[in-house]
Amino acid sequence: SKPKILVFAGSLRKDSLNKKLARAAGRYAEAAGAEVTFLDLADYPLPIYDGDIESASGIPENALKLKQILAAHDGFILSSPEYNGGISGVLKNAIDWVSRPLEGEPSMAAFKDKWVALLAASPGALGGIRALPMVRTILSGIGCMMMPEQVALGQANKVIDADGAITDEAAASRVQRLSERLVRFAAK
Ligand code: FNR
Repeated sequence: SKPKILVFAGSLRKDSLNKKLARAAGRYAEAAGAEVTFLDLADYPLPIYDGDIESASGIPENALKLKQILAAHDGFILSSPEYNGGISGVLKNAIDWVSRPLEGEPSMAAFKDKWVALLAASPGALGGIRALPMVRTILSGIGCMMMPEQVALGQANKVIDADGAITDEAAASRVQRLSERLVRFAAK
């Protein structure tokens, strides 16, 4: 059966380069035979994690929804921005909320045994590559299986066109190979 791949980015803004890159990778995954869903974290606003909120009113509804969506997929294509050399607060906050345990649910249900392909996009030369070891460490710590390959797309504002296509051929083929490999693993 077709592996289910969830595509999302660690940025909220509408014109996010990381959303565009994630979508481009998602199209390659679809072409490689996956069932692909795009998730926009902006559709699931969350408060900054606060244990007092959790104690008083439990895990927010949007975090529960995200948990279910992640749990229903076999793998993720995730593009993370780099903020000051690390993971974006948006992405870390979402991971933190979704990682909170629910009674009667298997541990780390949303993350356990999910295959993950990591990407980053930045207008800078390095493409946000410094965020990726951090994202990798966090997700592998909660049960994800991280693809060793990754793509950090530099000058992403110049090499992603208005239709969201990657115009740099070498970069596009690296994204394609990453997506194809993810689909092969997630299908097992
Ligand atoms: C940035 N940006 C950035 N870029 C980068 O390559 N390395 C970095 O360390 C940072 N740091 C950083 C900090 C903060 C607070 C902001 C707001 C931005 C620039 C960043 O890559 C750029 O804004 C991207 O466009 C953000 O990703 P999205 O929203 O386009 O997906």
